Amino acid sequence: MGEPKKLYIKTYGCQMNVYDSERMAEALGGNGYIEVGSPDEADMILLNTCHIREKAAEKVYSELGRFKGLKAEKPDLKIGVAGCVAQAEGAEIIARQPMVDLVVGPQSYHRLPEMERAAGTAKVIDTDFPEEDKFEKLKSRPKARRGPTAFLTVQEGCDKFCAFCVVPYTRGAEVSRPVDRILTEARDLVERGVREITLLGQNVNAYHGAGPDGDAWSLARLIWALDKVDGLERIRFTTSHPNDMGEDLIAAHGECRKLMPYLHLPVQSGSDRILKRMNRRHTAESYLRLIERIRAARPDILISGDFIVGFPEETEADFQATMDLIDAVHYGSAFSFKYSARPGTPAAERPMVDADEADDRLQRLQALITRQQRETQDGMVGRTVGVLFEKPGRLPGQMVGKSDYLHSVFVDAPDVSVGEMRQVRIASSAPNSLAGTLA
Ligand code: SAH
Ligand code: SF4
Ligand code: F3S
Repeated sequence: MGEPKKLYIKTYGCQMNVYDSERMAEALGGNGYIEVGSPDEADMILLNTCHIREKAAEKVYSELGRFKGLKAEKPDLKIGVAGCVAQAEGAEIIARQPMVDLVVGPQSYHRLPEMERAAGTAKVIDTDFPEEDKFEKLKSRPKARRGPTAFLTVQEGCDKFCAFCVVPYTRGAEVSRPVDRILTEARDLVERGVREITLLGQNVNAYHGAGPDGDAWSLARLIWALDKVDGLERIRFTTSHPNDMGEDLIAAHGECRKLMPYLHLPVQSGSDRILKRMNRRHTAESYLRLIERIRAARPDILISGDFIVGFPEETEADFQATMDLIDAVHYGSAFSFKYSARPGTPAAERPMVDADEADDRLQRLQALITRQQRETQDGMVGRTVGVLFEKPGRLPGQMVGKSDYLHSVFVDAPDVSVGEMRQVRIASSAPNSLAGTLA
């Protein structure tokens, strides 16, 4: 074996891309690559991209522009584009940036090792939605120790076709991985030091993978099976759709000790008129009733959400309805975005809201969310919560971890090691973190 080749991966977009980047790095490990932290020393650069908003997609081209000098210095450098921009734009990427050698979509990256070998002599593009399952084709995962938290993709794709969204086109139809594969992967992760697993899917609560008994298992059933994995301390899942919150999943939030009290449940808008135009198939009222049922099962659960402002034809009254919904829910955290017209989606054909008006709404919404987020976090002071320690802090003896509610917590704890779960009494709240002492 010669010197290992160096791979630099930059990841944009959602957690699923983070998971995919890990798997792509592992796949290229078989071709002799090790991962490095900077593009300057790399033999191959791979951008794992996101197409969700125009800004995210455009970033890829500005980033590629920056690699021009590197490629000129080192003609053997291979540059690849993976992920959702790769899927959406395919060969167009090479037309715009001829220095790109390889384009691979999110459903075909198990073919990356052969593509990498071919990339030295020709341009290679693969944006198929192949019959075979990429996870079945990929080698089993390495056994090296790793950090205490991990993502695990259990479901991919989306059949919901919200009028603004590219995901059904870039990720394809909804597919669930079989239960036994997920359990095997989870046990392997735990053996390697993982204590918390976040189950991923674009519509993770629509999970319906084949169980060992031949039935289609719900996400709740999968969570209960993971609950029995020794050494696994925490289970989370994201992202959920309000229409797929099954009774058993709501109940699990009250009954499963390992399932954390945090739920990301995007609603996008509080106006029924806009929800309808978004093709969301739920109303503001049905969402509020759902939140009530979830809180009845787990009163302390922290709810987070996603919002789009300035969706085509959104009026000030529609926007106020969103603000009212936020008031009613009281979010622990939320992401909010100005609507971005995406080519090929139905909403892209419709009249846009004035850009300044949309900016103004986004600012008002974010101010409200920030207030609620701060109130929720401040409300933790005086409580004792579970913390999974992830790394040392900046101060001597200090450790940083995440609470059950996903807040960052700083603790003076020189005797605690990474990967330990401890009870912490929260003493103070800063803008983006909490501090406390071991209980
Ligand atoms: N599958 C998840 C999230 C998909 S994308 C779900 O269904 O909730 C993450 C978030 O990006 C969305 O919840 C939405 O708020 C936002 N988003 C998606 N398309 C967008 C667009 N065209 N413009 C602005 N925000 C968008
Ligand atoms: Fe996009 Fe809607 Fe599917 Fe979420 S549910 S991925 S927002 S189409
Ligand atoms: Fe972006 Fe694709 Fe995820 S568009 S949000 S990387 S599914």
